[in-house]
Amino acid sequence: MAGLSELEQDLQRAAQLAWDELSHDLRARLLDEARGQRAAALSRLAEHARHAAQADARLAAAGHAPLPADDPAGRVLEHLCPAAAAALASEDPGASGSSPWTARSQKRRGGVYTERPLVDLLLDLAGYHGQERVLEPAVGAGAFLLRAWERARAAGVAPARLAERLRGVDVHPYALREARCALRLLAGEAAPRLVEADALADAEACPAGEWDLVVGNPPYVRGERIPAELRARYRARFPDLGAGNQDLAGYFVAAGLEWLREGGRLAFVLSQGLLEARSTRGLRELLGAHQLEALVSLEWAPGAFPDASVIPLLLVVRKGPPPAGHRVRLGRATWGPGREALEVSWSQLEQGRFLRLAPEGRWPLFLRRGDASLLEGLRRLPTPLEAGYGLAIRTRVGAGELVAEGPEPPASFSAPRPLRDGRDVAAWGTEPVRRWIDYRPEAISDAKSEDFFAGPKLLIPRIALTPQVAVDESDALCRNTVMVARPPAGRDLYATAALLNSLPLRVYAFHLLRAGVLAGSHRCTFYARVLQALPLPTLDEGDEAELARLGREATRLARDPARREQLVELERALDERAALAYGLSASQLRRLRREAGRDPLATVLRPARLGQRRRRIGVAEFAAGARYR
Ligand SMILES: C[S@@+](CC[C@H](N)C(=O)[O-])C[C@H]1O[C@@H](n2cnc3c(N)ncnc32)[C@H](O)[C@@H]1O
Repeated sequence: MAGLSELEQDLQRAAQLAWDELSHDLRARLLDEARGQRAAALSRLAEHARHAAQADARLAAAGHAPLPADDPAGRVLEHLCPAAAAALASEDPGASGSSPWTARSQKRRGGVYTERPLVDLLLDLAGYHGQERVLEPAVGAGAFLLRAWERARAAGVAPARLAERLRGVDVHPYALREARCALRLLAGEAAPRLVEADALADAEACPAGEWDLVVGNPPYVRGERIPAELRARYRARFPDLGAGNQDLAGYFVAAGLEWLREGGRLAFVLSQGLLEARSTRGLRELLGAHQLEALVSLEWAPGAFPDASVIPLLLVVRKGPPPAGHRVRLGRATWGPGREALEVSWSQLEQGRFLRLAPEGRWPLFLRRGDASLLEGLRRLPTPLEAGYGLAIRTRVGAGELVAEGPEPPASFSAPRPLRDGRDVAAWGTEPVRRWIDYRPEAISDAKSEDFFAGPKLLIPRIALTPQVAVDESDALCRNTVMVARPPAGRDLYATAALLNSLPLRVYAFHLLRAGVLAGSHRCTFYARVLQALPLPTLDEGDEAELARLGREATRLARDPARREQLVELERALDERAALAYGLSASQLRRLRREAGRDPLATVLRPARLGQRRRRIGVAEFAAGARYR
């Protein structure tokens, strides 16, 4: 311990003594968070104790008793001599500059705390007014219970009654201490009960069938990050959720329904991906048997969790089957002035229709009046596209050696082939080939036969906001940033491209097929299964010929930057033709065009700002124009 101050040495010694008293399971968890390094785990424990000492000092200054010493940080403080404890307590909060949490511990436990505007919105949506029995099963630093307390007190509920009605649970003793301290500062000795437990496993901490409201922001921890033994236990406990890569938050939703009394409400902050991913289909089916009250997407209110790579979604469900004709409220949240509160615009849809709307049971997130009938019409059409992604080139085995840029292939390549990239493909057009691959299938993971790339074929960038389809007449190979698609034999490729690039189809894809929205950047991944779910009407000869003519013309215009305005005009004519083929009435098309000028569709479908190179498509970049380069 050479070089450490006396206080640090005392702290480390105390941490060591406290460590030896911890349960085996807890030590294993803290060690895992410190990548198995005991010294690092001890120094985290010491850091939490430092924060605990300062928190106790704040409690004392406000006239409250310190927290009991029966948790790890408390034990460290007990092992310190009074002088050292006092010295620690009198340090400037945060003077050490070190957060008591590590990035790994936050990931392992899903430690992302909720800001007040979101907490308030969710409590509003849940109709909380202070009388309810509330369980917060992943309480963290207490965001929801603190606010529930304040709101109930403001509504005149007496502290003693309130304390009986609120309960928080968290598996992490460090988090729990933060919550205990914050609640004691707010509520004094009457603070509600907080329990250290795995909420998913401890029926005593979270008794079933008792709660009026289960609220919070459960941990998002991807299935593969949950320790194998625990994952097996959760899977066995919630067989309805299926064996897919279930996020920890999914288990909390299933458990939440059990904890509620009949008619009680579950109000959770979740990840939007949870309601679109294939692996969460079982979860959606489970939820769909209950009364879905509100779903609010925060896709258009960026920054709600600046450090977390998820798009939040607020879900409110009432336990029990939906009454006949029950309507789901779908909300789109945006920030109000000064980002102090969230504002929500709403649409509504009868629950049965809502659940049946999207192929594969995904949940659409925002629909305006009239959208449902339009989407239902398209949904009834055949989905005949075959699609697959391009070559997955393993970077670790030297993709750089296999790929080169330039007008000509390098002389050193043994089997040079032209290669396209997602960047080279936009609606209607591909860039002239500027990349080359040395086609050595043994160096490529998931190498496809060259026939797969035989032209003509449809190309679609895999990551984009909306399908952008080009016809490629060449035999160029493609990277896995490009999807290759083919209609059934005999169908004209240009007519198919015209349908896929048309307004009705893109609106359909936006609402119903946005599987796998990439966190934070508002991009979609057009997986093969997504493309294979795109509806294509059967065309009579005349329609097909006319759409093919328009598609060819659009492709020609797209090559000439000076004629892009004409392309925009041509697309209007093409949308009319496509709308007829898709069975839309003139008034439906008019409404679609109107909606296409308003957010959220306006942002997704915004027409060209011409002459710009498309590279990344996030909302910000997209506003700078991305449909055509
Ligand atoms: C996303 S944080 C949310 C905290 C708080 N609800 C908020 O919104 O600020 C999730 C919390 O769940 C806790 N947690 C993780 N697994 C848990 C489990 N099995 N049982 C109870 N809590 C758990 C973590 O320690 C973390 O504090």
